[in-house]
Amino acid sequence: MCIRKGADMVGEETAKRLVQEALAAREKAYAPYSHFRVGAALLTKDGRIYTGCNIENAAYGPSNCAERTAFFKAVSEGERSFQAIAVAGAGEKDDGQYATPCGVCRQVMAEFCRPGEFEVIIANTAGEHYSRTLGELLPDGFGAANLE
Ligand code: THU
Repeated sequence: MCIRKGADMVGEETAKRLVQEALAAREKAYAPYSHFRVGAALLTKDGRIYTGCNIENAAYGPSNCAERTAFFKAVSEGERSFQAIAVAGAGEKDDGQYATPCGVCRQVMAEFCRPGEFEVIIANTAGEHYSRTLGELLPDGFGAANLE
């Protein structure tokens, strides 16, 4: 089952593929403190996929979200242009909930993606998903243009 809301940009076939990749990445989550495991799959404009998982830390502060892991992997490999990201997360009591990106991850996305053109596909562990544009998730964000 698939619930589509708002943006519909990469198409259902690609969205499903990204959700599957995000769920596979979620298997690698290192979340011994929250037990909330998250995976992400980031699609570049030329069709490459970079995955990421959340990586927690005993000092809590250094923990990194799945979305940022995917972005930092991709950017560190020279990627700068992105179409979409899928994110799938749930805790031990997985009741089908959706994990939407935190504010810090939205800000990192905004550094590299145009708000109206970047699709965020939000999935649960059953693979159900819906989409938002980055602009819907982060309206009136602060970005590079503010520093010009
Ligand atoms: N987390 C993510 O990786 N992505 C999200 O979209 C929401 C939260 C992680 C951070 C932390 O490791 C755990 O989920 C609980 O907040």
